[in-house]
Amino acid sequence: MLRDHPCHVLENRPCGHHLWVLTVRSTHPPFDCQPGQFVMVDLPTRQFFFRRPFSVLATHDPGTFDIYYKVVGKGTAMMAELQPGDEVKILGPLGVGFAPPKNPAQALLVGGGIGIAPLYFLAKTLQQTDTPSPHCFYGVRSSHEVGLSKELEAVTSENRLHYATDDGSYGFSGNVCQLLEAKKEALREVSEAYLCGPTVMMDATYQWLNAFNPNIQVYASLEEHMPCGTGACTGCVIPRTDRFLPTKCCLEGPVFDAQTILWPSMRPQAKDPEASSSCCP
Ligand code: FES
Repeated sequence: MLRDHPCHVLENRPCGHHLWVLTVRSTHPPFDCQPGQFVMVDLPTRQFFFRRPFSVLATHDPGTFDIYYKVVGKGTAMMAELQPGDEVKILGPLGVGFAPPKNPAQALLVGGGIGIAPLYFLAKTLQQTDTPSPHCFYGVRSSHEVGLSKELEAVTSENRLHYATDDGSYGFSGNVCQLLEAKKEALREVSEAYLCGPTVMMDATYQWLNAFNPNIQVYASLEEHMPCGTGACTGCVIPRTDRFLPTKCCLEGPVFDAQTILWPSMRPQAKDPEASSSCCP
């Protein structure tokens, strides 16, 4: 059921370069949320027509939850100015979250940028099970974009948590696919993988995993543009491999079986207009 939660800001703290964690409490708890679900935040200003979608980072006591976000424009810059006691309206939780792994010790989490948020939430949830933690691979461009490292270290085993930076300033030097390739011997046992991050990173990771072991069940949480988050606008449609019509990501996702996504690398290339015009009279 769609529910708009009037919330109070409890804390809004920086945790990296342009990276923040917003903690809010709903005035009408509970707030029951699964890892991978998202919320739409309505800022306390009429300046923005649309709400902003964010993955939930964690839930605490009934009605209290965290959102991890990056300041990338006017709306998120305004979020970074929120103070304890400020009021925000938050719609959610929305969408379909991650199916929990059958065996957490054989699970692989691969996050890029702020896409690490729902994967941290999943790892935190799995911590309550009495098994080794999942493998966690986290890629960003540079060391100043590494957020949540303390939080991740608290929910994953040290030898299973790996960082990659494009510029080599923290952890492995290279992208997260190159890191997976370098660590592939440790991944022979993996049976389920969970991805979240930029589409190009998830596309490459899915193709790598598929080539490495096609028996791995891969789930991807898509970071689509979502103007409404409720299925009303068709602003978030994605092409699928298993059906003719596109799918509204906000309603049927954001988490999908990666096999059912028509990833950009699998789509027919746009025709070269010059090549096609050459056959015209
Ligand atoms: Fe409007 Fe999905 S965001 S239909």
